[in-house]
Amino acid sequence: MYKFLLRPLLFCFDPEQVHHFTFGLIRLMHKIGLGPLFRSIYAKKDPKLKREVFGLTFDNPVGLAAGFDKDAKLYNELSNFGFGFVEIGTITPKPQDGNPKKRLFRLKKDKAIINRMGFNNQGVEAAIGRLKNRKTQIIIGGNIGKNKVTPNEEATSDYIKCFEALFDHVDYFVVNVSSPNTPNLRALQEKEPLTELLKTLQVKNQAKSNPKPILLKIAPDLNEDQLLDIIDIVRDSNTDGIIATNTTIAREPLTTSAEKVKAIGNGGLSGKPLTSRSTEVIRFLHQKSEGSIPIIGVGGIHSAEDALEKIEAGASLVQLYTGFIYEGPALVKAIHKSLLNA
Ligand code: FNR
Repeated sequence: MYKFLLRPLLFCFDPEQVHHFTFGLIRLMHKIGLGPLFRSIYAKKDPKLKREVFGLTFDNPVGLAAGFDKDAKLYNELSNFGFGFVEIGTITPKPQDGNPKKRLFRLKKDKAIINRMGFNNQGVEAAIGRLKNRKTQIIIGGNIGKNKVTPNEEATSDYIKCFEALFDHVDYFVVNVSSPNTPNLRALQEKEPLTELLKTLQVKNQAKSNPKPILLKIAPDLNEDQLLDIIDIVRDSNTDGIIATNTTIAREPLTTSAEKVKAIGNGGLSGKPLTSRSTEVIRFLHQKSEGSIPIIGVGGIHSAEDALEKIEAGASLVQLYTGFIYEGPALVKAIHKSLLNA
């Protein structure tokens, strides 16, 4: 129904407008009482799907990746689509508009998206207001970043602000230093600033009576030496896990014409073209760390097989974004089914 009816219709319109329209539609359908119907169609509850990872119990290992519910507006409703966890954000301390529109593009032939949203979000206080309205038991991750106007030398204070403000409202944290759409952000993936940032956050965390898992989200564009550094940094700073990966700045392998891709311009590429690179990163990290670091695998999961491959490569949990747009909500249950049959 989604792929043959709804998707062709939605794909006739501007992607960002469709995103907001779909939010409105999902909210409306819940207001008129269709939440349980969604749950009965899309959610699969089975104790065999439960996972214990970094001290948290997930009902199932399939989550919604960051960027979809940036402002924590829809996580209550999204919990009815079968996800085991929803990651909100990236959230920054102050609200910001993000990059000028148009900034979100479909590459239909490639089942891909290019985005240069630039952390558009309403800021941490607005998110907290909504998280206080939590009606669901679903695990919520808080993906945090820095404002565009904050220089990298002061970035740590932005991450601390978000961490402290969100602490009572999310179950785990993600330090996002891997978005290609905030100028210079990815420089924070360098060994020295990243170790300092993660150590500072972990000190704040350990001072709490109930510390929460802190994960690091990395780019798929890091080379092997940089990935080995990431393992050292994660160990050195007692970071609880890695999310691999964010979108890529690479533009291959693509079948969309080079002219069209060039006309779109800068941004992070997600979806099918990212599937094997992100699995490669997961496998490398898993092997080189000898399985000692929990990994959430994300990037180009469009089928149950894609998800199983990431798990086989070493991911304990997986997340979807672009696959959810192209394949529809049935993908979540399809992954659950094949996990149960594996
Ligand atoms: C993203 N992603 C993302 N990641 C993040 O950590 N913070 C963010 O704000 C966003 N925003 C965002 C917006 C859009 C439109 C897209 C498509 C993606 C990255 C996302 O969480 C994921 O890591 C990648 O998209 C790879 O997974 P998929 O999309 O191939 O399943």
